[in-house]
Amino acid sequence: MSKVTVVGAGNVGATAAQYIAEKNLADVMLVDVVEGLPQGKALDLMEASPIHYHDRKIEGSNSYEATKGSDIVVITAGVARKPGMTRDDLLKINANIVKEVATQAIKYSPDATFIVVSNPLDVMTYLTWKTTKLPQHKVIGMAGVLDSARFQHFIAAETGYSVEDVRAMVLGGHGDLMVPLTRFATVNGIPLTELLPQDKIDAMVNRTRDGGAEIVKLLKSGSAYYAPGASVAQMVEAIIRGKDRLIPCCVLADGHYGLKDVYIGLPCVLGTEGLKKVVDIKLTDEETAALKKSAESIRENIDKMNELLSVAV
Ligand code: NAI
Ligand code: 2OP
Repeated sequence: MSKVTVVGAGNVGATAAQYIAEKNLADVMLVDVVEGLPQGKALDLMEASPIHYHDRKIEGSNSYEATKGSDIVVITAGVARKPGMTRDDLLKINANIVKEVATQAIKYSPDATFIVVSNPLDVMTYLTWKTTKLPQHKVIGMAGVLDSARFQHFIAAETGYSVEDVRAMVLGGHGDLMVPLTRFATVNGIPLTELLPQDKIDAMVNRTRDGGAEIVKLLKSGSAYYAPGASVAQMVEAIIRGKDRLIPCCVLADGHYGLKDVYIGLPCVLGTEGLKKVVDIKLTDEETAALKKSAESIRENIDKMNELLSVAV
């Protein structure tokens, strides 16, 4: 019986818990600093179980003791940027939260695989790796699945073909410099370039890059959580069911694609052991340059985080 802890019982955390239970993947322990919030959401989710016919146990707690023996720990704790708050303010606040969460969670689940969701994603995943001191294959960030899903949805909507036949991958950091690989996007094997003119493809790439901001603008307060929650559940499923899925995840680049010492979105095989391997595909010079630029920006943010945190990692 697998156990998944989700720290942060906010929008993404609770939605991830919902999908994990509905897919019958694992029992879920929701943890949050706000008293009553994880308990209330857990009870609400349990009361949906007779409708969804799953026997999974979803519980809520404000204590890490309750997370003991988790197979997977998902970190969604953090705050959103508020008016008057700079990017650096946000980086510092979320870094302190994620560091505390990772420090506590690893004490009770030393063998867990960590999936990081909190933003800025690539930097927070690096921080979790440094804090937990886990081997790199056990600390993975979620962003590529979400960014790729957004790209795939736009392709299906624009072509009019079923999303079931659409494949596409987005690499790089989770931000303006992400790298949607249009060359490898297909509808049942047919290259996207055969199906749509370049200006339409360019528009979809831009919409994918701005995917998070588009939702924020519509919601006015808060950011996306249905697709992010579903993306977390897909990664949890790949690990728990040992599916060896080839999907983009934020992982430590260790010489892959000419990058080193940075967490960034790369094509990965995700299975029982967490990251099974990074898949090296031959990129064009332009794609390689875009990935490098994205990595440089993440590296700058890691350096900035080290300046902002009282104790460098
Ligand atoms: P939210 O505000 O709804 O939930 C965050 C939760 O974290 C709150 O319930 C809060 O009480 C809790 N929290 C704060 N400090 C904590 C601590 N020290 N320990 C435990 N819990 C703590 O936010 P939402 O929408 O769930 O987003 C969560 C994070 O995920 C944000 O950083 C957001 O930017 C990020 N995100 C990342 C995505 C990705 O693709 N990687 C996609 C969507 C969101
Ligand atoms: C998103 O892409 C906010 O990172 C979050 O929706």
